[in-house]
Amino acid sequence: DASDIEKGTYPHYMLKEIDEQPAVLRKIIQAYQGPDGNLQLEDETIGALTRADRIYIIAAGTSSHAGLVGKEYFEKLAGIPTEVHISSEFGYNMPLLSERPLFIFISQSGETADSRQVLVKVKEMGHPSLTVTNVAGSTLSRESDYTVLLHAGPEIAVASTKAYTAQIAVLAILASCAAEVKGHPAQFDLVHELGIAATAVETMIDRKEEMETISFDFLEMTRNAFFIGRGMDYHVSLEGALKLKEISYIQAEGFAGGELKHGTIALIEEGTPVFALATQAAVSANIRGNVKEVTARGAKACILSMEGTEEAGDRIVIPAVHPMLTPLVSVIPLQLISYYASLHRGCDVDQPRNLAKSVTVE
Ligand code: G6P
Repeated sequence: DASDIEKGTYPHYMLKEIDEQPAVLRKIIQAYQGPDGNLQLEDETIGALTRADRIYIIAAGTSSHAGLVGKEYFEKLAGIPTEVHISSEFGYNMPLLSERPLFIFISQSGETADSRQVLVKVKEMGHPSLTVTNVAGSTLSRESDYTVLLHAGPEIAVASTKAYTAQIAVLAILASCAAEVKGHPAQFDLVHELGIAATAVETMIDRKEEMETISFDFLEMTRNAFFIGRGMDYHVSLEGALKLKEISYIQAEGFAGGELKHGTIALIEEGTPVFALATQAAVSANIRGNVKEVTARGAKACILSMEGTEEAGDRIVIPAVHPMLTPLVSVIPLQLISYYASLHRGCDVDQPRNLAKSVTVE
């Protein structure tokens, strides 16, 4: 429907798509809820998941960052060992495979050539494949054995936002359905917790002015920026850095907090912005220790924590959500901060230089 992809009163598709995220999450819950209110998937899809002795997630760009979060779900909820691979590497440098691998392709467009070359190879080898995509009828969807849709609606801005959160939600649903069939006890009520996360996303979206101020305070004059986190927060720090660099051209790097001292700390100067994600109680003290290491060397730190893990002085505190679902919420301020950085620098938010929405060449 063409009216779905109008910008309406929005200055940019990216902002519109950021705003759509609570509705997308609710739509996903609905789409995968059975008549009894429980999450459900097609039997064949569940069968493919439960037969696998190992999952290989194959994706590029933002979709690979969602894959990193997905790995946590498959391993921690369903007990299925999972690896995440960059498409462009996997096909040409294939690791040793397990006996019963399942390949999960994550692709907003379903058209990424780097991912398709892997699909062609694993099909030749006779392995099962499942595509998680926003586009029904896309190449990857047509050519793989199973498809699970994102229901995010058309994503137009080159920088992916709502597809990332949709991918995370759908991967959680896949893992939770697999867990149920495998008889793993449910660790939490996913439908309920996704609903809470959707509301928290809404809360963060309503805090745009605050994010614009943070963007101004931390990024106005800088040439680089760093994002650090541990565990779930590490995965989101990679996405935060990618978002910022792709639309504002500020050199940005995301990495594990503990790796700082092994190299990157050499780049910290007076005023270097460091966004530190501290939503995970288990590693909150460690990441705060890393913040001390950089601020002692002049860095300007913006700590993003969660109600329950927050300390006085944290610049961004997201509402409390289940610790496994924090990426859905913590990424929102990072998307907004990147958006405003791009806007303030006069960059083309929706069509950044040198980038394409879907890359159909290897
Ligand atoms: C391009 C886009 C990225 C996207 C990546 C993977 O590089 O610019 O935003 O994350 O492709 O796209 P896909 O459609 O496979 O998720």
